[in-house]
Order: sequence, then C-alpha cells, then structure tokens
Amino acid sequence: MRTTYCGLVSEALMGQTVTLMGWAHRRRDHGGVIFIDLRDREGLVQVVFDPDRADSFKVAEDVRGEFCLKITGLVRPRPAGTENAGLTSGKIEILAHSLEVLNASVTPPFQIDDDNLSETTRLTHRVLDLRRPYMQKNLMLRYRVAMEARKFLDEHGFVDIETPMLTKSTPEGARDYLVPSRVHDGQFFALPQSPQLFKQLLMVAGFDRYYQITKCFRDEDLRADRQPEFTQIDIETSFLTEQEIRDMFEGMIRHVFMKALNVDLGAYPVMKYADAMHRFGSDKPDLRVKLEFTELTDVMGDVDFKVFSTPATTKGGRVVALNIPGGAAISRGEIDAYTEFVKIYGAKGLAWIKVNEVAKGREGLQSPIVKNLHDAAIAKILERTAAKDGDLIFFGADKEKVVNDAIGALRLKVGHSDFGKKNGLFEDRWAPLWVVDFPMFEYDDESERWNAVHHPFTAPKDGHEDYMDTDPGKCIAKAYDMVLNGWELGGGSIRIHRADVQSKVFSALNISKEDAQVKFGFLLDALQYGAPPHGGLAFGLDRLVTLMTKAESIRDVIAFPKTQRAQCLLTGAPSNVDEKQLRELHIRLRNAAAAGGATAA
Ligand code: AMO
Ligand code: AMP
Repeated sequence: MRTTYCGLVSEALMGQTVTLMGWAHRRRDHGGVIFIDLRDREGLVQVVFDPDRADSFKVAEDVRGEFCLKITGLVRPRPAGTENAGLTSGKIEILAHSLEVLNASVTPPFQIDDDNLSETTRLTHRVLDLRRPYMQKNLMLRYRVAMEARKFLDEHGFVDIETPMLTKSTPEGARDYLVPSRVHDGQFFALPQSPQLFKQLLMVAGFDRYYQITKCFRDEDLRADRQPEFTQIDIETSFLTEQEIRDMFEGMIRHVFMKALNVDLGAYPVMKYADAMHRFGSDKPDLRVKLEFTELTDVMGDVDFKVFSTPATTKGGRVVALNIPGGAAISRGEIDAYTEFVKIYGAKGLAWIKVNEVAKGREGLQSPIVKNLHDAAIAKILERTAAKDGDLIFFGADKEKVVNDAIGALRLKVGHSDFGKKNGLFEDRWAPLWVVDFPMFEYDDESERWNAVHHPFTAPKDGHEDYMDTDPGKCIAKAYDMVLNGWELGGGSIRIHRADVQSKVFSALNISKEDAQVKFGFLLDALQYGAPPHGGLAFGLDRLVTLMTKAESIRDVIAFPKTQRAQCLLTGAPSNVDEKQLRELHIRLRNAAAAGGATAA
C-alpha cells in the first residue's frame, strides 16, 4: 500500500510520487493552504494541501489529530527558509494529490508532542504515549540491543533454551510472585526470580553454552531502576574461568554499544569490591563523579569529639571525609540541605570544614567541629584529603554501612549537582567497570545470621573453602558485577559444581540438610552426575537500554510497565477475580472486604 515511511522521505526522492501511511501529528491552516505533519515510526513529513485540488483539500479540512491517513503526493523542495534541519525529511514536503482517511480518531486526551505529561497520564493512555517519537525511538533501540546481543551470542556458540515460568521458588533473595495450583489443592508455583537453577541444570545436561532473553519476577520495593517483572539477558557456560567469562561479556556489551550507538566503551577497569567500598562506599561506583572518600577511622580514635571517636574505636565503625574541591562556595543553606539528605541514609549529621587558608592551619578553617579536634587530627585531615584553599570537607562517622550509604549518596548528589558539573566534578562519559572479589557472605544483624551476598550457588575463591567453617566473613567469592555509570548492569559468578562444597555453603548459611533437599534437592542431585565446572552472569536488559537511551526511568524503555506501586494503569492489573475462580483455586480471602471484595459467582 505504501512506497516508503514518512520519516524516510528525503531529497533522494525529489520529484517522485510517493504513497505514505501514518497519523496526523499536527494540522495547520495557513490562509487557504493546509499543512499536515504526517507521522509514522520513522518520523515526520510535512504534507501540503492546495485548494486547487479540491477533493483532497476538502478531506484535509476535516482531519484532526491522530487520524490514520493514506496520502499520495509529489516530493518537492520546501520553500527557502522553511527547512527543518532536525528531520530527515526537513528539506522536502509532499504536495498531496490524494488523501484517504483510513480511520478517524476521537480527540486524544493529550497532544502527542506534549513533553510535560504526568507519568500517570502516560501509563493510563500508554498506546498513545507509545506513539510519541521518544517512546518509538526507545523501543526501537531496545530491539536493536537485544538483536545485537543475540547475534554476538549466536556467533559465540550460545544456544537459546527456554526455561519454565511456572516453577519453584528460586534463591535471588526477593519475595516471590506465587501462582496457585488448581489441580493441587493448597500448592503454589513461584514465578522465577531468574532462571538460575535451570541454567545450571542445562550445564550439567551438557549444553555447554546457554543464553536466554527472558522475563524474571521479583516482588520487591520498586525504584527508578527496578520493575517487578523485568528482562534478563541470561547466560551460562561450562569450562570457562572467571576471567574468560568477564572478557567474553565485556566484549558482548562493547559489541552492543558499538553496533547500536557507535560508541566504543574501551577496556573496562577492574576494581575489587573492598576497594570500591573503601574509595566510594558503594559496590557500583559511578566513576564519572571525580570525588573519593578519605579514610580517617585510624586517626580519630583519640579526639575529644564522640561523634568521631566512638565509631573510630568501635568494631564495625568508620570515619571518612569527602573533600569537595571549590566547595567553600557552597552556602550554609545548601550544607543544611545536604545534611537533611544524608539523614535519609541513616546518618545522624554531616560535619564539615570550610578550608579558607590551608597555610594558616586551624585558624584558616571555618567549621562547627574543629574546636573538638586536636592539632594532629586536623593536620591528618588536611594531609590525607590534600585539601586546598576554597575546598569544603564533609565528614561521615557511624557504623560502616551508614557511612558508606550516606557519604556514597552524598558523593553522587554533589557530583551530579549543577555545582559539581560547573566545577569539573562530573565527567560526561561512559564509565563501565567490573567489580570483582565480592564477599561470599554478609552478616545480618537483625536475623543474626550469615546471608549469601550473591546466591548460595556461588563458588568461593580457591583456598577460601575452609573459611566457610572458621570465618565466613573472610571468604571471598568468584563473583563479579558489571557496572555502568553507577548502575549495576549485570552480575554473575562461577558456581559450585561439587555437592560437598555446596553442602558447606548451606551449613554456613544455616540451611539444614533437610531444608536444602526440599528446596534445591533437584540441583544437588544433578551435581552428583559429573557436573562440569560452570559459571555465568545475567544482564538487566531494561537497565542497559535505559542507560543507552539516557531515559530517566526504566519504565521509559518498557512497552507496558508497572508503576512504582506495581500496577498496570493500562489494563488495571492487579484486579479482583470472581469468587468462582477463587473457589477453583481453593482460595478464601482472609479479608475479602479490604481486598476489594471478590464478586460472587
Ligand atoms: P541479579 O539478581 O544480580 O543476578 O540480576 C541480574 C541483573 O538483573 C537486573 N535486575 C533488575 N532489573 C530491573 N528490575 C529489577 N527488579 C531487577 N533485579 C535485577 C540487574 C542485575 O544486575 N541469577 C543471577 C545471575 C547469575 O548469577 O548468573 C541474577 O539474577 O541489572
Ligand atoms: P553536634 O555535636 O551534634 O552538634 O554535631 C556537630 C557537627 O557534627 C554537626 O555539624 C553535625 O551535623 C555533625 N555530626 C553529628 N553526627 C554526625 C555523624 N554521625 N557523622 C558526621 N557528622 C555528624
């Protein structure tokens, strides 16, 4: 029916007659001449209706926004001075010969080119929102990225194998989405949090290189970079070392960036987890921000300031400084705002020193806390931060986790602020890195037990097996995360392929033999049949595309996403169901009224 896409008509077609299909983006009446910007997925083209052609002109008079149209016309140059350099079709216009309304549209609830729509409006009217060039571009890039990943994986001998959606609880640490079984009264399937166990089983089954671009489901608190259902590029291989896996998948992401964005990410820096926490207070540091922590725990033990001395002398405490070059220009009001900001992360305050004149020592400093610090402590602070005249030094002192979270977040906040951008604290570039050597376990004070940092199938570093019994905190895992611009893009590990090592991990995690058998018996059994050494990783496709499109939210790269409250505004899911359906599923609601009340069958 059509000869080309609207957005692709260029000077190359000058003088030719084209037939286009698309939607009326805008219609303008210019004293006898009507202009319609016709839009399709490739872009816009300007169509002109001349009163001399009475038939099409008459039809054009009745066209409104979002009518679906078929237009045939002549490609001609735009009059001088009316070109639009932003469009492929910016130098031409179509003089319409004929116009057919394929389908009229009711008045849309908003203008498609309105950039100030609320997200609620956008998600409620998602179909119209998806018509917007921004969303079209995002989803096209998403397709491109997935396709390039597939090509790379195919070339490297990976096979796409599907794994079940109705399955058993998997151990990624979030809450499961459950599906009741009609056939088995009182029993439930869990939707997979990832294909983790199945991909390991496929390795035992000898498939050697597996991948899948697949949905995962996690019922967790949602943020800008999280969805309850999201997509992983999920990968597992046999017989590759940790280094070989990292090299290969660094290559994959480099390939995707090159093909889809023409960007060369270069070789990734590699940073140990411990160093990342030490320098940035985060296991996913945004290396575009050029600020680093200064360690002070070892020099604040004997100061007459409890805020610093207590954490400095308590196990698990930490004291750090964050020097902001040029930060003396930051106002008291802004410092107060930063103080409120760090409280979100559990900090009790935010001590600071403005460095007016380093050379004058104590006299050259302006601060509510220097009176509490002895000369040696002040000298150490200035020496270690290498602060210069005009700098501002912030301090965090508390339990290690609070300091890392609070000052880590402050580092990003300052780096990304207008001040940070103006003062060269933020470099606008792609900043990928590997974070490696994660600990196997972390201690949870609340439940008073060790938890797996990655998941319980992650292998310890060679020689670290015995720490599992003696000192779990010391045990380092063969686990790695890929980080890009401060987002965790992907993560994985070498897995345990021996049943005896796997049992040790379960016992360190306080999972009994019986429990392990009930939950993961099928994996433990499989490991006994000559399981190969294997490992892998998974990338968050939604996150990858969000970064690549520079979208503000992960929801802008998903066709039909859920809100922050895990709802679909388009379909109205989740919703009540019939009493009859519930009965078939052997379910009685505990609080039918509060739940909205199931309608009687
Ligand atoms: P992990 O839990 O780290 O590892 O997940 C891998 C990647 O998936 C993305 N991701 C998410 N994206 C959007 N919304 C979410 N709620 C969400 N949760 C995770 C992140 C993350 O890096 N089975 C292991 C992988 C392995 O060991 O091979 C796993 O799922 O980008
Ligand atoms: P105070 O002695 O409570 O008046 O605190 C003096 C300064 O230390 C103030 O600037 C506080 O914001 C700051 N402060 C208090 N607690 C902490 C903390 N845990 N870490 C960093 N600074 C703090």
